[in-house]
Amino acid sequence: MKEVKNVEYGLEKIFEDAQDFLPLMGTDYVEFYVGNAKQAAHFYKTAFGFQSYAYAGLETGLKDRVSYVLKQDKIRLVLTTALNSKSEIGEHVKKHGDGVKIVALWVDDARKSYEETVKRGAKSYMEPVVEKDEHGEVVRAGIYTYGETVHMFVERKNYKGEFLPGFRKWESDYNPPSIGLKYIDHMVGNVGWGEMNTWVKWYEDVMGFVNFLSFDDKQIHTEYSALMSKVMSNGNGRIKFPINEPAKGKKRSQIEEYLDFYEGSGVQHIAIATDDILKTVGELRSKGIEFLSAPPQAYYDDIPNRLGEHMKMMKEDIGELQKLAIMIDADEEGYLLQIFTKPVEDRPTLFFEIIQRMGAKGFGAGNFKALFESIEREQANRGTL
Ligand code: FE2
Repeated sequence: MKEVKNVEYGLEKIFEDAQDFLPLMGTDYVEFYVGNAKQAAHFYKTAFGFQSYAYAGLETGLKDRVSYVLKQDKIRLVLTTALNSKSEIGEHVKKHGDGVKIVALWVDDARKSYEETVKRGAKSYMEPVVEKDEHGEVVRAGIYTYGETVHMFVERKNYKGEFLPGFRKWESDYNPPSIGLKYIDHMVGNVGWGEMNTWVKWYEDVMGFVNFLSFDDKQIHTEYSALMSKVMSNGNGRIKFPINEPAKGKKRSQIEEYLDFYEGSGVQHIAIATDDILKTVGELRSKGIEFLSAPPQAYYDDIPNRLGEHMKMMKEDIGELQKLAIMIDADEEGYLLQIFTKPVEDRPTLFFEIIQRMGAKGFGAGNFKALFESIEREQANRGTL
């Protein structure tokens, strides 16, 4: 299966063409609203190798919520729980279960980012707020994207502290080592029936993103189900948000299952990059993280065929990859290795992808069929196919 490039003249030119009224330097943090932040933090430390980083709660003067911040290389996760029944955080968890509330983006000018996006039609979540402590100041402002998900603009050029004003360093005696997770490669959103193009246009008009890859239901389908996906990227290519919508099939697609259980649109998966997927996935498995089952033997037998030229540069042993159920795909520029966890909370909603890029810039289109068949086996087990 081939990925369809919407523009033929190459990514660099696309990125030049993207409107840069909203320069984004990277992902600043991802905030989850969860039922029990203390226990979720322990899970991400123990199983995913995150380190304790910052904390805010009753001890720092907050009355209504608590947040634990975790770090691994460039990735910062914030886990937040309400401390009373009246909080909108609690309402969010009641409706959606544990999930991603805020995808924060690192910007040079949060006020301008907010003004430019609201001017272009974004719905406001939070007007610019200046937060200060002895280390300086941070400006934050937020807009809604799909569902109840928020993009927060974070301007920290005048801040020397670790995370944000209001947080204190979180010291812990329990510090599991990193498992090699480096940065967020992409984050995928699931939106409702017929809404993909609405959100593609929203990212184009409001955020100045470009649509550089598309997959339709003729490309992404199995015997039973189908979906459509378009990949949106910002001007420098650092932020990539694929957007999925369900398509008609014989049975219920994984996107419909997500929408039913999340009760709306939201973040489907977070893809995290590693330089050594064999080590990272081996460690995740040893710590109890469950992954989708391996594609059949025929899939691995066909790898040399599919990789062609790129086989020469491949350092990993196919047998080792197969043992861990890691999938392999290639495009013109190289290959990539990837694997998907099962959902990491009780509802079949958010999951993680671990990805190692060896030159390839795609999203593993050649793996979609095997991947979705594996997800369907899980759905069948849950009675939701
Ligand atoms: Fe992905």
